[in-house]
Amino acid sequence: MTMRNSITATVLLFVSCLLCGSDAAGGYRPKQPFFTSIFSFGNSYADTGNFVRLAAPIIPVIPFNNLPYDETFFRRPTGRASNGRIILDFIAEAFGLPFVPPSLDKTQNFSKGANFAVVGATALDLSYFMERNITSVPPFNSSLSVQIGWFEQLMPSLSNNTICLDRSLFVMGEFGGNDYVFLLAANKTVEETRNYVPVVVKAIAAGVERLIKLGAKRIVVPGNLPTGCIPIMLTLYASPNKSDYDKYGCLDKFNGLARYHNELLRREIRGLRNRYPGTKISSADYFRPVVKFLQKPAKFGFNGGTALVACCGAGGRYNYNAMAACGFPGATACADPSKAVNWDGIHLTESAYADIAGAWLHGPYAQPPILRLAH
Ligand SMILES: *[C@@H]1O[C@H](CO)[C@@H](O)[C@H](O)[C@H]1NC(C)=O
Ligand SMILES: *[C@@H]1O[C@H](CO)[C@@H](O)[C@H](O)[C@H]1NC(C)=O
Ligand SMILES: *[C@@H]1O[C@H](CO)[C@@H](O)[C@H](O)[C@H]1NC(C)=O
Ligand SMILES: *[C@@H]1O[C@H](CO)[C@@H](O)[C@H](O)[C@H]1NC(C)=O
Ligand SMILES: *[C@@H]1O[C@H](CO)[C@@H](O)[C@H](O)[C@H]1NC(C)=O
Ligand SMILES: *[C@@H]1O[C@H](CO)[C@@H](O)[C@H](O)[C@H]1NC(C)=O
Repeated sequence: MTMRNSITATVLLFVSCLLCGSDAAGGYRPKQPFFTSIFSFGNSYADTGNFVRLAAPIIPVIPFNNLPYDETFFRRPTGRASNGRIILDFIAEAFGLPFVPPSLDKTQNFSKGANFAVVGATALDLSYFMERNITSVPPFNSSLSVQIGWFEQLMPSLSNNTICLDRSLFVMGEFGGNDYVFLLAANKTVEETRNYVPVVVKAIAAGVERLIKLGAKRIVVPGNLPTGCIPIMLTLYASPNKSDYDKYGCLDKFNGLARYHNELLRREIRGLRNRYPGTKISSADYFRPVVKFLQKPAKFGFNGGTALVACCGAGGRYNYNAMAACGFPGATACADPSKAVNWDGIHLTESAYADIAGAWLHGPYAQPPILRLAH
């Protein structure tokens, strides 16, 4: 889209916002859900069906297209990388909105929002990796900035609907987890990978700023998960040295990388809040809630002892095997996914997502809690 088109789109959205505001003034009830739409950007922790559409012509078998993915709630594969609803679904439910449709599903009506998240998406552009010969990155052009480009393209078609950016919730992420996974897969050490954290975090902040300039007023920015507690990492980077693990059995150095990312991201968010006081930005914590599950599994209804073990897999210490991952022949799901934290070795179960979503909506794991953005 040209610059002129994008400015026109912004103006049209502003006009429709005035209309939307007057509707609200006439009929607004305090208990009425505040948000009229949700726009989401991210990777497999947020994808609700884009990757399966993007990859269908290229990859013959997409695990997320097979049961037992989505077996619990949807009872058929939807492209979500879980057994059921993800955090974004619970946020939509909390505001009385439909599940946010994947933007690549052209049969959808996006008047109540769109989800641009794609499995595997990175904060940094594909060209960034290619220019540095980092070939471990899959060739899908779906980075954060590409996703925002898709949003810009969609904007004009929304402008005559009731879309009102003032009343839209934007969810930016999680981003960064994949950037580090691909750098590590290119045989960079954790220490070398740390050097990329500032540029990854800057890319996320630049994306948030771009949304603000397009008119976003309420934005949630999640940080990274404790990647050292995730079965795929525990499997790929298993160490014979006990002192590489913390007392919950997580690999310390990967958690250290995620902590460093989260610290820099919070700093960037503080800077954005100062520069854009008219925009509410919630910093959402993906790290501490997952650590809490491991510390006190029973308190959250999870199985003790196996909280680091994936529900769906084909065996092994953490029930993760890249050659027979969930969704492929040989892998099966555990009897009661609601008692597991991790679903497929990478992503979380619906019950873990439900708990985290609650803590983001009401606190304490989002600052401010998302419900407090709704006024
Ligand atoms: C999309 O849905 C909205 C209401 O949710 C409706 O007003 C609009 O006409 C629909 N657009 C299309 C193209 O169906
Ligand atoms: C990815 O897509 C963007 C936007 O369409 C384009 O500008 C960029 O050149 C593409 N990058 C690659 C590596 O294909
Ligand atoms: C990438 O690889 C090509 C071909 O092997 C080489 O010529 C180039 O110098 C490399 N670039 C970097 C940044 O390492
Ligand atoms: C929006 O309304 C304008 C003016 O009425 C019209 O020209 C344009 O085609 C409409 N756009 C859409 C996407 O409906
Ligand atoms: C990483 O190292 C392993 C083992 O040394 C090697 O087999 C693999 O080809 C390397 N991968 C890359 C992307 O360099
Ligand atoms: C185990 O790791 C610790 C801390 O990283 C290190 O000091 C120690 O030398 C390692 N032991 C072995 C046997 O590699």
